[in-house]
Parts: sequence; C-alpha cells; structure tokens
Amino acid sequence: MTSRIWGGRFSGGPSDIMEAINASIDFDKRLAKQDIRGSRAHCAMLVKQGLLAKADGDAIMDGLLKIEKSISEGTFAFKRALEDIHMNIEGRLTDLIGEPAGRLHTARSRNDQVATDFRLWVRAAVDSLDEHMQALQATLIDKAETHVDTVMPGFTHLQAAQPVTFGHHLLAYVEMIGRDRGRFSDARTRMNESPLGAGAMAGTSFAIDRDQTSTELEFDRPMANSLDAVSDRDFALEFLSSASILSVHLSRLAEELVIWASAQFGFVSFTDAFSTGSSMMPQKRNPDAAELVRGKVGRIIGALTGLLIVVKGLPLTYSKDMQEDKEPVFATFDTLELCLAAMTGMIDDIAVNKDRMRAAAGAGHTTATDLADWLVQSKDVPFREAHHIAGQAVKTAEEKSCGLENLTEGDLQSVDDRLTADALKVLSVEASITSRSSYGGTAPDNVRAQIAAARDRFLKSAEA
Ligand code: ARG
Repeated sequence: MTSRIWGGRFSGGPSDIMEAINASIDFDKRLAKQDIRGSRAHCAMLVKQGLLAKADGDAIMDGLLKIEKSISEGTFAFKRALEDIHMNIEGRLTDLIGEPAGRLHTARSRNDQVATDFRLWVRAAVDSLDEHMQALQATLIDKAETHVDTVMPGFTHLQAAQPVTFGHHLLAYVEMIGRDRGRFSDARTRMNESPLGAGAMAGTSFAIDRDQTSTELEFDRPMANSLDAVSDRDFALEFLSSASILSVHLSRLAEELVIWASAQFGFVSFTDAFSTGSSMMPQKRNPDAAELVRGKVGRIIGALTGLLIVVKGLPLTYSKDMQEDKEPVFATFDTLELCLAAMTGMIDDIAVNKDRMRAAAGAGHTTATDLADWLVQSKDVPFREAHHIAGQAVKTAEEKSCGLENLTEGDLQSVDDRLTADALKVLSVEASITSRSSYGGTAPDNVRAQIAAARDRFLKSAEA
C-alpha cells in the first residue's frame, strides 16, 4: 500500500504531471475552515449515533482544533502530494492522533465533503458581499441626500433628455444594488441545504443522522437526493450569475463616473485618493478606479461562462472536472469585494460641479416635454398635437440660437396662439424638476421621501 489515503489498490505513485494536474490544494486551502467545521459536525454525529467511540471522537476533535489553529497561524504545511484540503487535513490528523484519524471518514466521501465545504464557503461569501453592497447603498444614499436639489441632465441615448437631480440619479443605483442583494439572498436560501451524508453519491449503510449535521452546520435541511447532493453546482452558478449582474451594475455606474469626470462633461472630480496621473501628460487626472471596476466585469462574466461550460456536459454524479468549480468563485468574490470597496470609496470621494451640471441640464431644450405637457393640461390639446407644437417651439429656439426658456411670449405666440405667457413658467429647469412629483419621479420632495424609504428598506440591519 502506498502512503496515499486512497492507495490500497495502487502500487506506484503518480507521475509528477499527474500530481500537478490533480492537485487542488493551492487554491482549495481556502476551504480549510469549512472543511474542519464539517468534519467536527460529522464527528459529533458519528459519536452520537454510536458509530465512533467517544474517546476516538474526542481525539479527533482535539486534533482538528490543533490543525485549525496552525492553519490560522500560518504554520500548517500544505502538501501538494496530498492533493486537496480534505486529505491534507486528514493526513495531518493522522500524524497528530494516529489510528482514530482513520475513523473520521466513516460514512463520508470527499464528494459530499467538498460539496458541503463549498456550500458553506459560498454562503459566507454571500453574507460578506451583502455587507459590502449595503455599505455602497449607504454611501449612495448619503450622497443622494447631499444632492437632493442638485440639478443635472437626465439622458437617453446619452443625449440630454429631461432635467433630474443628482440625488435621484444616485438612488437609481440604490435600487439596482437592492435587487442584487435580493438575488444573492434568494440564491443563499436555495443553497442552504446540507449535502453531508450523501456519501460518494448513493448514501450510506451507516445509521447516520443527516438532520443533526445539517442543523449543526446551520443548513435548513439535508438535501433530499444523494446523487444531486454530490453532483450539482448550481449554487456556485447562481452565485456567479448574481455576481455578474451586480458587476454589470457597478460597471454602468463606473462608466458614468468616467463620462462625468471627463473635461468635456466636467460634472464630477475625484481627490488624489481616487485619481491617477499619466506618465507622459502632466495635466492628466484619470479615473482609473472607475475604469478598473468597469474592466473587471470581464473576469466575472468569464467565471460564470467558464463554470457553466465545465458543468454542462457532466453525467451524474461527481467527475473531477468539478474541481474546476472553485477558482472562478474565489476569484469572483475577491474581485467583487474590491470593486464594491472601490466604488464605495469613489462615491464618497466624489466632488460635484453643480454649475456645470446645472448648465448642462438647461442646454438642449430639455424642458420641451414640459411645454407639451402644459398644452395638454392647460389647453386640453391632445398629447400628440402638443408634442408637435413643442417641437416647433424647439425649432424656433434653435433658429434664434437660444434656449427654450429664453423664448419670448411673442416667439411662442408665433408658434401657436394657444401658447400664452403662462407657458413660459414651465420652461425653467427648476419648474420642470419640481413638477415631476409622480411616485418615483425626480421632484426633490419626492426624492427626500425616497431617501427615507431607502434607508428603511435597505439599511435597517446595518444600524441594528
Ligand atoms: N478536490 C476534490 C474537488 O474539489 C474533492 C473531491 C474529490 N473526489 C473524488 N472522488 N476524487 O472536487
């Protein structure tokens, strides 16, 4: 028998190449805590079920504690020859306590073990990301409050469309991140079932108690089908899909920051803390952090695509291909944590040039809709016709090279005699914004109410 844990029917060791392609310890050591926690739960259950002597159970528990300590202190010697985290820990346990270590794997396989560890890890990752997303929401809401009256152009097609407030614009992202949190949380609910006890795939002949280990590991229930338990990775895919959508939201915000920070827009600027210079052009002040948040999405969507492809052709149940499930998830978590922190930092750091925003909000005849609405409301003109008349007023303003709000009563009258002096009142940017008081609209009073509601909906658990 070789020294390998599975070496009973083997007489020689693997080639170096075999070892190199097979070993996962370099990355799955990140599952160490979860692996030990799972083993402790399994061990306690074996003892309680009379499948393991109490003295052996105690020795195992003691050994696992020591291993956990040495891993957290950074003194544990991970060995590639032991392939993965499961066998590294079991190997070390054998060194520490001898024979009883070999009893821990009773009624367990690495297949249900890794599925359990990985679910525990992804669950914790979801909880950690939730805190980061909430912190970003809190920062966005605070900024929105500061800028509840700050006027900016709202865009469609990146053309100035209608005036909005910067606060309103920022709150749009609070909603998006709120749904991202919901997606992760839905995924968390579905993933929170215990695979432990599924064995290699068919279950086990030992009288185990799956409810006990499930409860101990804070899962909601044991997974109902042992084949499913060891072979699906949909929880990782859901994590990566939710991550992809979140990263797309972050990327859109990042893209806006890049646009707004350009000299051409000049809406916002960042302090030195979130700017970088150019090695050649001394005048440059670049929003690199925003560009990187935008750029990192490539990796995250790549991770989702990669894992979908890994899983798509696999027959039930476990195949070693599935060892490829971890790196994309780990990398996505690390990337997102950084991107969320960078975005939170940038939003906090942002300085707004209100004059530039205000000027841009008024440029491009952004209150033309208000003129059409006025005709509908005050003169009972059908909206389609009102739209046409307002369009002609825009044309007149263009001919005079002035803004819509600079037209005179005479100008309006020459467009249509129903355009009386009162119509001039709706042409200012401020009037336009104040008038948009429908639920969800940009009117500052509305946005103030939305800020309070958003704090209530999204930040309550942060204060508790
Ligand atoms: N390191 C393996 C993985 O991550 C553990 C499961 C191995 N199971 C097996 N039957 N070879 O997938």
